[in-house]
Amino acid sequence: MQSVTLLLSLLAVATEAAPQFGGLGGGSGGSSGGGLGGLLGGGGGGGLGGLLGNLLGGLLGGSGGFASLGEPSTGGSGPYPANFSTDPGLPKHTIYLPNEIPADLKLPVLVWGNGGCMADGTGFQGALTEWASHGFLVIANGSPGGSGQTTSDMLLQSIEFVTQNAGNGKYANIDASRIAAAGQSCGGLEAYDVAPDPRVSAIGIFNSGEFTDSASQQTIAQLQQPVFYFLGGPDDIAYENGERDFQNLPSNIPSWKGNLPVGHMSTFMDKDAGKVGVAGGNWLKWLLKGDQEAAQWFTSGSAQQAGWDVEEKNLQSIQVTPI
Ligand SMILES: *[C@@H]1O[C@H](CO)[C@@H](O)[C@H](O)[C@H]1NC(C)=O
Repeated sequence: MQSVTLLLSLLAVATEAAPQFGGLGGGSGGSSGGGLGGLLGGGGGGGLGGLLGNLLGGLLGGSGGFASLGEPSTGGSGPYPANFSTDPGLPKHTIYLPNEIPADLKLPVLVWGNGGCMADGTGFQGALTEWASHGFLVIANGSPGGSGQTTSDMLLQSIEFVTQNAGNGKYANIDASRIAAAGQSCGGLEAYDVAPDPRVSAIGIFNSGEFTDSASQQTIAQLQQPVFYFLGGPDDIAYENGERDFQNLPSNIPSWKGNLPVGHMSTFMDKDAGKVGVAGGNWLKWLLKGDQEAAQWFTSGSAQQAGWDVEEKNLQSIQVTPI
């Protein structure tokens, strides 16, 4: 039921956005609106038809796709079983935390933009619960089961909320000096938008990329922190855009790009988000906790063994004080 609702809302987004953004040649990069156009107009000329084909393929193909979107998570595979809740201080978001937080555990933070820039904060709950279960606070744009659209300002609202509430009450163990921003598809472009904020120390781009070379250059010029790309291989509608962004990155920005050849929705709808859940968890543990085992997943061949085709730039310059 929920998968059908999601598909319809994505189709609605696609249909609305296509005439608005489909003809843009460039220039409006950096906004999630422009980025959505990129996801419609990019991808090797597939355009709207390509996106719809991809969505339908995901739904009808049987191997994951959207079939289980929104299925309740069982708490994640990490050492701290997690779940989501809400906070009246941030009513348009969904907050993922371990159910019990040991007194000596410090939790870094991920702010997250959903695919389609959807305002359903539980749309990606498999991945977000999984990541929280490794000892993170994750704040997704959108309330649980919410509808409508988000903007990148909502990631800034999450960052502001963390800045103001870390150290108090329910958030006593939150470390506001360790914040990452990431998102899937349209949500990845929201994450790019907050890269200029000095509080953001890592960027994660899942199945996404800017839609023109000029937008790509403009976005890349604003990056000041490591950026990791998790793409879905040539069948991913955002593949060419993500590839171009990575190629445009200067060699001094620490970056990693992995392609798992499963298409635009990656393994997000598998239990605990499957392989992309593992990859994203290692990214967070390395970049926000300084976990060396997680670092080695990227640097010692484990990612390739798991099926990721990888490229990297300057990873050796990443220095994170372990917590
Ligand atoms: C997570 O929270 C939701 C909403 O409160 C609840 O329905 C669900 O049972 C919880 N899941 C787990 C695994 O505890």
